[in-house]
Amino acid sequence: MDYIEVANVHEFTNQRIKSVTVFGSKVGIIKGADSEFYAIEVGCKHQGADITRGHISGDVATCPRHGWKYDLVTGECLNQNAAPLRRYGLKVEGEAILITTKPLVEEKEDPLLHFFD
Ligand code: FES
Repeated sequence: MDYIEVANVHEFTNQRIKSVTVFGSKVGIIKGADSEFYAIEVGCKHQGADITRGHISGDVATCPRHGWKYDLVTGECLNQNAAPLRRYGLKVEGEAILITTKPLVEEKEDPLLHFFD
């Protein structure tokens, strides 16, 4: 899997979120409440607003347009039945923060797997 450097850990001394653009996609680099770093899609699943411009409390972002709430670590939408935000792989090498060039593919269980159980 290919990684690209997008930020430095020192940028998160006084902020918890930075938006970057990777090959045309906006990605949020999040320093979680647990001080670990995460990378997540920032376009709200409702109408695409940048959720990192909304209110952030703990690891929950509230979309600035209509108030949908997202867990910034898991990408889960907390108050609507919507698909989760896509997540990217992230690693820290020294002081550099690197993310995968493509979103991680979520493993979905094959619905036919237990068909004959
Ligand atoms: S665009 Fe985010 S809630 Fe509507």
